[in-house]
Amino acid sequence: MAQLFTPAATTLFRVMIVLTGLGVVAAGAAAYVWARSGSTWNVGKPASQPVPFRHDLHSGSLGIDCRYCHPTVERAADAGMPSAQTCMSCHSQVWIGASVLEPIRSSFLLGQPIEWTSVHRLPDYAYFNHAVHVTKGVACETCHGRVDQMPKTVKTQTMSMGWCLDCHRDPTPHLRPREAVFSMGYEPHGKDLPDDVRVFYQEASRRLVSCSTCHR
Ligand code: HEC
Ligand code: HEC
Ligand code: HEC
Ligand code: HEC
Ligand code: HEC
Repeated sequence: MAQLFTPAATTLFRVMIVLTGLGVVAAGAAAYVWARSGSTWNVGKPASQPVPFRHDLHSGSLGIDCRYCHPTVERAADAGMPSAQTCMSCHSQVWIGASVLEPIRSSFLLGQPIEWTSVHRLPDYAYFNHAVHVTKGVACETCHGRVDQMPKTVKTQTMSMGWCLDCHRDPTPHLRPREAVFSMGYEPHGKDLPDDVRVFYQEASRRLVSCSTCHR
């Protein structure tokens, strides 16, 4: 039978099939990289809040302890959010008439919670617990960054599964002494960890990366 296409045309056709295939793979890879990159996890993006609360002023300049406003962080899954009453312990005396504090005053008078917008929110199928981390020496700063310098609260880490697992494979370089978990600007010295802690995590890391630890 006579050839339908010249050899050159056949080669061109083959090349085009391969390139199309590669293009599909590359587009898929690009979409994946984009979907897992920082910007799509809202890293660095502030949320709009009912009151322009500032950590840099309250935690940084005034030095108020994190637990004053996030009272359950050492003993429960949730850190806890401040009630209007917590704010009014000071703001019934300072900045009394300020209009920015109006939502605080009205929720105080009506006894209603303030609706803060979440900055960090995992999907429901992922389980997280503050107490476990904080009591084992994982600091606020390690997961939330320099909150004490933030005029607006933002995420500094993706909070993706890959991020959780990076630490769970070997938490030791990130651990601090218990008394330093609320400190900011501290250099974790994982190197000085006692040997029994190191041995513990060689064993524990298998449990820490198993699916049912976070998907239960
Ligand atoms: C321990 C006392 C204290 C507590 C508790 C407190 N504040 Fe303040 N806050 C202050 C002081 C003092 C200032 C004024 C600082 C200044 O004028 O430099 C201030 C200022 C402010 C301002 C104005 C900031 C600005 O300069 O733009 C806002 C808004 C505010 N606080 C919101 C809150 C909210 C919301 C809460 C509760 C979650 C709260 N504060 C809890 C002491 C407190
Ligand atoms: C005076 C009260 C107060 C103190 C002290 C305080 N916070 Fe907060 N924090 C708030 C309020 C109000 C919000 C909600 C508004 C916002 O996101 O800025 C908040 C939000 C947060 C969030 C984001 C929560 C979310 O929705 O995902 C983190 C993380 C956080 N605080 C960490 C800290 C850390 C770490 C410290 C100690 C260094 C601290 N806070 C001290 C009042 C406080
Ligand atoms: C191992 C990482 C990690 C550490 C350490 C950590 N957090 Fe969080 N934090 C998270 C994650 C993840 C969320 C989102 C939780 C969710 O949606 O279930 C969160 C949410 C929050 C929230 C939002 C509301 C809530 O009740 O959970 C606050 C406030 C907060 N963290 C404060 C703190 C403070 C204060 C510390 C230090 C004492 C701290 N966190 C330590 C990872 C961490
Ligand atoms: C910087 C290190 C670090 C990061 C980041 C981190 N963890 Fe952990 N996680 C730990 C350590 C340390 C423990 C305590 C393990 C122990 O001593 O049993 C732990 C324990 C846990 C436990 C309890 C495990 C058990 O069986 O008792 C859960 C659940 C958990 N982490 C979920 C998460 C999730 C979800 C994320 C991400 C959103 C996360 N962790 C991010 C270090 C980390
Ligand atoms: C240390 C905690 C942790 C462990 C262990 C873990 N995951 Fe996750 N996983 C998360 C968190 C947090 C999310 C939500 C954030 C995200 O999508 O990355 C998630 C999301 C997922 C998703 C949805 C991903 C997407 O792109 O929407 C799947 C599927 C999943 N996990 C499967 C698994 C499987 C299978 C394992 C065991 C091999 C596992 N996970 C172990 C924390 C964990």
